[in-house]
Amino acid sequence: MADAQVTRKLSNGAEIPVVGLGVWQVPDGPECERAVAAALETGYRLIDTAQAYGNESSVGRAIRSSGIPREEIFLTTKFYPGKRDARVEAEKSLERLGTDYVDLYLIHWPQGGPTWAWPGMEAASEAGLTRGIGISNFGATELQELLKVSQIPPAVNQILFSPFDYRRSLVEACEDAGVVAQAYSPLGTGRHLDDPAVERIASATGRTPAQVLIRWAVQKGLSVIPKSTHKTRIEENFAVFDFELDEDAVSALDALDTTNQTPDALSRSQKWWS
Ligand SMILES: NC(=O)c1ccc[n+]([C@@H]2O[C@H](COP(=O)([O-])OP(=O)(O)OC[C@H]3O[C@@H](n4cnc5c(N)ncnc54)[C@H](OP(=O)(O)O)[C@@H]3O)[C@@H](O)[C@H]2O)c1
Repeated sequence: MADAQVTRKLSNGAEIPVVGLGVWQVPDGPECERAVAAALETGYRLIDTAQAYGNESSVGRAIRSSGIPREEIFLTTKFYPGKRDARVEAEKSLERLGTDYVDLYLIHWPQGGPTWAWPGMEAASEAGLTRGIGISNFGATELQELLKVSQIPPAVNQILFSPFDYRRSLVEACEDAGVVAQAYSPLGTGRHLDDPAVERIASATGRTPAQVLIRWAVQKGLSVIPKSTHKTRIEENFAVFDFELDEDAVSALDALDTTNQTPDALSRSQKWWS
């Protein structure tokens, strides 16, 4: 299964799977372990957690009991920027995850500014606690500020991205800087699944709304991390490599954008940290 992974190459040389499982709002415990186990059985090799999600222990248990060699799994966690030292917090994450390293460690959001936490992220990388470092919820301006001071450039920017949150200029800014953009909430945390335009394209394509939304993000060149705790949906969300959205479908989805192709990661009212 792992051989069939579709990946994108990161600036640190690693390959990140294009589709992964997100586990935001999945409680620590059996539900989280079952979701991660179902994803790994299905063929997922990218799991996205965070210190703020409180479920790193369950993610780690599910990975260990899967029997899949650790090096075949791409594991992401995120620094909670309410803390001071990203390197120290990475060590605590590794203890909870029960692993020696993560593949990607992201600043969860640029609380307090885009640069202060980066030396700690670089220290985590240099200490071998993580293979790659990156950012999340950084707009184009914040990305540029970080690039001016970083010794190691960010490999990934994980952003709110769907046809309704297209933020095209931000994706272009990431591409120009050699940063792979990764789409979070690709289904709008479930809200976009019953949109009439999405449903129409899904029935015309013979696919489900979730598959259409995930496939659209894949065709835009992003890595995508839908969340589900249901095995059948986890399987459905991974089955997006045997069809293609045609130009008309892509244009119709592009037209749903409510961000006006913004270079910002979130609108002012969405910035929960300021
Ligand atoms: N960096 C950040 O700040 C940030 C912020 C938000 C999210 N994220 C990451 O991105 C991941 C995904 O985003 P998200 O959790 O907001 O939500 P999402 O993936 O956009 O949508 C998940 C919702 O859709 C439902 N769903 C999933 N697949 C479905 C399907 N095939 N058919 C019908 N319903 C389906 C899920 O329900 P069930 O679970 O009940 O199936 C859940 O309610 C997160 O888990 C997290 O890892 C990162």
